[in-house]
Amino acid sequence: MTKGIRIAVDGPSGAGKSTIAKAVADRLGYEYIDTGAMYRAVAYGMLREGITCDEADREKLASFLDDATVDFRGGRVCLNGEDIADRIRTPEISMMASNCSAIGIVREKLVADQRRMGETKNVILDGRDIGTQVFPDAEFKFYLTADAEERARRRLADLEAAYEKKRAELKAEGLKGKKLKSLLGPAPVFADVLRDIEQRDYNDMHRAISPLVRADDAVLIDSTHSDIDDTVQAFLDVILRASDEAAGTPCCAGCPCGAEEAK
Ligand code: DC
Repeated sequence: MTKGIRIAVDGPSGAGKSTIAKAVADRLGYEYIDTGAMYRAVAYGMLREGITCDEADREKLASFLDDATVDFRGGRVCLNGEDIADRIRTPEISMMASNCSAIGIVREKLVADQRRMGETKNVILDGRDIGTQVFPDAEFKFYLTADAEERARRRLADLEAAYEKKRAELKAEGLKGKKLKSLLGPAPVFADVLRDIEQRDYNDMHRAISPLVRADDAVLIDSTHSDIDDTVQAFLDVILRASDEAAGTPCCAGCPCGAEEAK
């Protein structure tokens, strides 16, 4: 069995990890694994089964995890074979994922799955503990962050787009007035989104098991003032330069590393 190259991307919620990791995966021809979606899938299943994060529900949770399969089909996260990718991006699931990811048996299961998925292929994984726990020996490690307010602005834009899409769908079904309003629920608000981001940052950084920390050897990238293309390029610069150095072949102007001049 040949070992692949593993690229670990960790960082707080809303820093753009999935967007950037997906773009880097496309550029390099690597497989992309969104580990946050796996915690969201478990959170979704727990909410559906009425299982809470309380100690009192631990046995129910253990038996749910024993029977649950979380995987990706065509890049979309599935729970027991059911594509749930469109149902896991709500604020409720975000908070439940943050809470259930602090539970040891949830992490044990998903970390084992992630190690299996990344064992033999070239992969880029994003999450909170990839460079510290899942693949501490990853060939490349990044820590991607941005100011909390900027992350909240980006998240708000996503939530607003989803809200408008849902409004258009409901209107197309002929709904209007009070019925439309009650099905849509309240429009997303910046202050709520920021509060959620700060709460999740706190949860993710202060939990007892595998808290979010920057690995000592992770390259820090702050995307507060960078757009997606610049941030992707910053990743590629690190990866392609290191690969070139390892191969002993200097990169040159025009090569995909983006360097202006030959080294
Ligand atoms: O990246 P995300 O927002 O989709 O992740 C959802 C939650 O899952 C997040 O609050 C923390 C948790 N998570 C984790 O603990 N470890 C990971 N490797 C990925 C996500």
